[in-house]
Amino acid sequence: MNAPRLLRRSRPAGTVSGGAVPGGAPRPDAGPPPGVRVRDLTVVYKTPLGELPALGGVSLTIDPGTITGIVGESGSGKSTLALSLLNAVQPPGRIAGGSVEVDGLGDVLKLKGDELRGARGRHLGYVFQAAQNSLNPLKTVGKQLLDLGRSHGVDDLAALVRDARALLERMGLDGARVLDSHQHELSGGMRQRVGIMLALVLNARLAILDEPTTALDMITQATILRIVREVHKERGLTTLMVTHDIGVAAEVTDRLAVMYGGRVVEHGPTMDVLGAPSHPYTQGLIRAIPRLSGDPAEARALPGRPPTLGTLPTQGCVFRERCPLRMEVCETSAPLPVRREERTVACHAREPYASAAGRGEHA
Ligand SMILES: Nc1ncnc2c1ncn2[C@@H]1O[C@H](COP(=O)(O)OP(=O)(O)OP(=O)(O)O)[C@@H](O)[C@H]1O
Ligand code: SF4
Ligand SMILES: [Mg+2]
Repeated sequence: MNAPRLLRRSRPAGTVSGGAVPGGAPRPDAGPPPGVRVRDLTVVYKTPLGELPALGGVSLTIDPGTITGIVGESGSGKSTLALSLLNAVQPPGRIAGGSVEVDGLGDVLKLKGDELRGARGRHLGYVFQAAQNSLNPLKTVGKQLLDLGRSHGVDDLAALVRDARALLERMGLDGARVLDSHQHELSGGMRQRVGIMLALVLNARLAILDEPTTALDMITQATILRIVREVHKERGLTTLMVTHDIGVAAEVTDRLAVMYGGRVVEHGPTMDVLGAPSHPYTQGLIRAIPRLSGDPAEARALPGRPPTLGTLPTQGCVFRERCPLRMEVCETSAPLPVRREERTVACHAREPYASAAGRGEHA
């Protein structure tokens, strides 16, 4: 799945009215922000070693109206999870099990054909990782916008264009010029912002942003993050933001899910997770961030490397090779997520019955 293919979709059932409030508040037909419940989601990729799991039974509840961040090292499964929310995992990948219930849509994994195409854009707005490379090189941005509107049955295309211009202008761009441009006439950062505009312009209630600010300089990144927050609030969205940058997550998100080896290992309110991380992996991630104040040498990189599909343990805890709290049980039994108040953690050492005596802690 990539953006040009999304933009070239044929016209599905259902009609979206044009934008009533440019670049800001929801249209009159907008519903409340949806909640999302991912249950036991398993996604496998075909490799020379056979089908291997990139997501190993992920469960995650995203509360309506929140901005949830997904963080974790490269290869932890963040993009695979984000794509699964759109039912857009492509071969050699395959969703092997589980469900993704979105309020107002039902189980997205059961949607097919026009129903699924209609849901993308209209209910589920998506900014792809490397969105700056995903525009159609042969058409102007404006033409792609009109294609998008027509394919989703938008009846007032003039209003859609006004809305798109307003969104682009809020992101510091000359809206009219950008709509008249082909992708090669735009910088990487400008294309990234076009991707964000295309994800939001149909007034999707669930916005999924995969590394939306990676190609941007610090100032533009700060502007985009402010706009994401503003638009999220004004339109009453539920937003999922994938980022490898904990600073970005800290600035923008209400809740944070930490992924490792295709699992969500910790999830809770962002400030709690960052202020008092519970899972040994989250603790290591935070220790590895160099501080602006204090001694930069205090930042300690996590020892070892994250697993690949081929090196992911098939039993026990996926983090055990790098874990300072590793115990005997971690070799054979995968820890289940345990929720205590607002925080969910998957770690044997954090289970209520775990005792220091049973830990056999490593250095
Ligand atoms: N098309 C593919 N074929 C085979 N393996 C894949 C494919 N796409 C992803 N994977 C594997 O699935 C795992 C999860 O990948 P994913 O892209 O979801 O990670 P990520 O957390 O988004 O990483 P990054 O931070 O680098 O974007 C990785 O081990 C990756 O190598
Ligand atoms: S203590 Fe065990 S279960 Fe917890 S993160 Fe370490 S290896 Fe995994
Ligand atoms: Mg990714």
